[in-house]
Amino acid sequence: MIQVPTLAVTGSTGALGGRVARNLAASGIGQRLLARTPGRAPELPGAIAVPFSYADRAAATAALVGVQTLFMVSAAEAADRLDQHRAFVDAAVEAGVRQLVYTSFLGAAPDCTFTLGRDHFATEQHIRDTGIDFTFLRDNFYLDFIPDLVGADGVIRGPAGDGRVSAVSRDDIGRVAAAVLAEPDAHRGATYDLTGPEAITLGEAAELITRHSGRTVSFHHETIDEAYASRRRWPAPEWQYDAWVSTYTAIAAGELAEVTDDVERLTGRAPIGLAELLDSIG
Ligand SMILES: NC(=O)c1ccc[n+]([C@@H]2O[C@H](COP(=O)([O-])OP(=O)(O)OC[C@H]3O[C@@H](n4cnc5c(N)ncnc54)[C@H](OP(=O)(O)O)[C@@H]3O)[C@@H](O)[C@H]2O)c1
Repeated sequence: MIQVPTLAVTGSTGALGGRVARNLAASGIGQRLLARTPGRAPELPGAIAVPFSYADRAAATAALVGVQTLFMVSAAEAADRLDQHRAFVDAAVEAGVRQLVYTSFLGAAPDCTFTLGRDHFATEQHIRDTGIDFTFLRDNFYLDFIPDLVGADGVIRGPAGDGRVSAVSRDDIGRVAAAVLAEPDAHRGATYDLTGPEAITLGEAAELITRHSGRTVSFHHETIDEAYASRRRWPAPEWQYDAWVSTYTAIAAGELAEVTDDVERLTGRAPIGLAELLDSIG
């Protein structure tokens, strides 16, 4: 009889979930890759792809029957993302999943400055309310995302001031998640704050990028009004502008500056910082 894996992983077609799935496969751990398009899930030893979507509770419940541990990446940004998260959590409970490992956000709170951090808190709260066992991985902003902040004119623009951010690489989060999923009982009820090794200002980030790329990059502090105005050239719903601008105001407020040793404690390796990330991408 073929044994269906009791560990399920979402997001494997994406950057973070793909790393988690590959790490698990490299450790010889079987997994069910829940994917909206199963044909796009990575082909890995011990992995089977199963169709689902966060918003389709019936399909998600069917995909999760027999699953004990579930890795849930947060969904793509959307007006109804929180509803999708709640529907998927409810599906997990209905299917009898024992433990849910959710990728949340550093400092998630009902009133945190980064607006999407509030949705992460509401998702955490829904998970707590269901009574399912959980582990929360509260990731800071992705370190990988810092070089993408540079505009075509070589300027990082936003109302971040001299605030600091302890951004963390997807590679480090992917290693933490795989370690947690390999031994879920040891992490039941835990909340981990995943940060890089240091907290830097966006001015310091611009200097590092300049040094590594040879291209002159600078940071320009915008007022909040300037930040909304400069982003309105891209058509988007209001909540999206709020999310974009609050990425910077959260840094200015000092809410993303905490440095923890959770990555090293969980993986045995110190997390990489921006200089190392830039070296690795060449
Ligand atoms: N901390 C940060 O700085 C930061 C930055 C950006 C995003 N995030 C959050 O972290 C998540 C993972 O990051 P990533 O870099 O791996 O993103 P990514 O490369 O865009 O991958 C997202 C993954 O989630 C899946 N997904 C998205 N919405 C879904 C839904 N409604 N139902 C089912 N599956 C869904 C995607 O599946 P498909 O292939 O079917 O689309 C894909 O596999 C993102 O989705 C976002 O919520 C965090």
